[in-house]
Amino acid sequence: MVDRRRLLVILFLLHLLVCSESHSFKHFHRKKKINGPIKTLVVLVMENRSFDHILGWLKSTRPDIDGLTGKESNRLSVSDPDSPEVFVSDDALFIDSDPGHSFQAIREQIFGSENVSATSALMNGFAQQAASMGEDMPRTVMSGFKPEVLPVTTALANEFAVFDRWFASVPSSTQPNRFYVHSATSHGCQSNVRKDLIHGFPQKTIFDSLEENGLSFGIYYQNIPATLFLKSLRKLKHTIKFHSYKLKFKLHAMLGRLPNYVVLEQRYFDVNLLPANDDHPSHDVALGQKFVKEVYETLRKSPQWNETALLITYDEHGGFYDHVPTPVSGVPNPDGILGPDPFYFRFDRLGVRVPTILISPWIDKGSVIHEPSGPTKYSQFEHSSIPATVKKLFNLKSNFLTKRDAWAGTFENYFYLRDSPRIDCPEKLPEVTTSLRPWGPKEDKSLSEFQLELIQLAAQLNGDHVLNTYPNMGKSMTVAEANRYAEDAVARFLEAGRAALRAGANESAIVTMRPSLTSRITGGVYGSQVQSH
Ligand SMILES: *[C@@H]1O[C@H](CO)[C@@H](O)[C@H](O)[C@H]1NC(C)=O
Ligand SMILES: *[C@@H]1O[C@H](CO)[C@@H](O)[C@H](O)[C@H]1NC(C)=O
Ligand SMILES: *[C@@H]1O[C@H](CO)[C@@H](O)[C@H](O)[C@H]1NC(C)=O
Ligand SMILES: *[C@@H]1O[C@H](CO)[C@@H](O)[C@H](O)[C@H]1NC(C)=O
Repeated sequence: MVDRRRLLVILFLLHLLVCSESHSFKHFHRKKKINGPIKTLVVLVMENRSFDHILGWLKSTRPDIDGLTGKESNRLSVSDPDSPEVFVSDDALFIDSDPGHSFQAIREQIFGSENVSATSALMNGFAQQAASMGEDMPRTVMSGFKPEVLPVTTALANEFAVFDRWFASVPSSTQPNRFYVHSATSHGCQSNVRKDLIHGFPQKTIFDSLEENGLSFGIYYQNIPATLFLKSLRKLKHTIKFHSYKLKFKLHAMLGRLPNYVVLEQRYFDVNLLPANDDHPSHDVALGQKFVKEVYETLRKSPQWNETALLITYDEHGGFYDHVPTPVSGVPNPDGILGPDPFYFRFDRLGVRVPTILISPWIDKGSVIHEPSGPTKYSQFEHSSIPATVKKLFNLKSNFLTKRDAWAGTFENYFYLRDSPRIDCPEKLPEVTTSLRPWGPKEDKSLSEFQLELIQLAAQLNGDHVLNTYPNMGKSMTVAEANRYAEDAVARFLEAGRAALRAGANESAIVTMRPSLTSRITGGVYGSQVQSH
């Protein structure tokens, strides 16, 4: 009896799997004709490193890149010209502690004080701000990697194009910046700590524009997709656009079935079996290198390679020094929304410069892309340049998402400089053999702020947000527990979505789950309820 029931469940799950597959492939076939050379843009956003920290020292062999000379420094106390001067160094390897990157900390890094009225940012408060966090921090934040320590990034930078004027969209932390990548606004979100991160952010996204224009997209995630913070992506019709990176990315690339717009999400949790690969301190940057290598080599092998571009950027600078002044003038507020009390930030200046690399057989070897030439005289490359370029690259009829992507520089013209794709792009990137971290993952660690938010998101997805342990459930979890919890929540949510879709629910509805802690065995479908929004 028990076995029979089990068999039925397995058959049902198998059925779900087959249906979701055929359903998602139907979308791939719906391809609209694109005239330009690029038919697939792949976006990968790494975590928390400034341009100078990752690419600054490449200047020694690539003088055309605006990197470090070794003369750059910050005083430990901005207001005291006699205080010790901390110079940039090239000895970054492994960074255990997490430098400051709150709104206030970044303000101090950029302006040297709370006074933001300077017309040009001085970039002189990094060491001072870091000193308030620990004795070794000033040296840490002024450090950068030798190019040979990051063999994959260095190879890609030398082989394709480096942007040396690409800024974070907001002088603040991860979430607001990730929102700009997908929607050219953070809808007023200025830091990570905001309760309604979990209810889903309501703004229109580039995914909606793509859909309106009959183009396909896919999100390949590892433990939990942070893109699910966006409400639009929780709709039933979009739940089929989420794929397991491990099971599907290589497969779709090999079959030539990658959609027009691809977002890759890395592992944000550091566990023994699968250590984090997002480059976030204290994670091992060597694993980030391996991940980027795998992504590149997968695309390079794909039959779609000749029509593909890969953009790799970093969400924010993570507290690390950068010498290029952060743009403070002519930056439009995207949508009229101000940040919360007490700063009421107007979203009218950018964040610190971050490393960004553009990879495609249509890009000449060793290119450097400096400032954009428009659309306004103040326009810059920043994360909103991604949706802005998608609109131009694929000739979308939809309007710009906000005033910010209408303003941001775009890079589609760099794909039109050649008559044919290159045939000399490397098939393999250098091996990354040595770990940059002296130890493995610490599974028993408590969660970082970003990880706590991912757990809040997971709780929203699986219905646990109605429990009174919410929003603090992540506080009692170790990294290993959190990873299991998040993966389980995502699996249940996506599975329930597919089932509801098959049962004929409205495609724009969002599944609301009942708490998993009380109905764990339901496998999703039975414990869920579909609501139209
Ligand atoms: C802030 O800086 C500006 C110059 O950038 C200066 O004119 C002004 O006096 C400063 N304000 C305060 C309160 O220090
Ligand atoms: C890509 O284009 C190059 C140059 O035209 C050609 O030699 C190569 O076979 C193409 N590769 C694929 C996978 O279509
Ligand atoms: C990176 O971003 C996350 C999320 O904002 C944050 O929790 C973490 O502390 C940041 N790390 C650094 C180095 O700024
Ligand atoms: C589906 O839901 C949307 C949004 O609530 C609504 O506008 C639409 O009419 C619904 N479609 C159907 C077929 O019920």
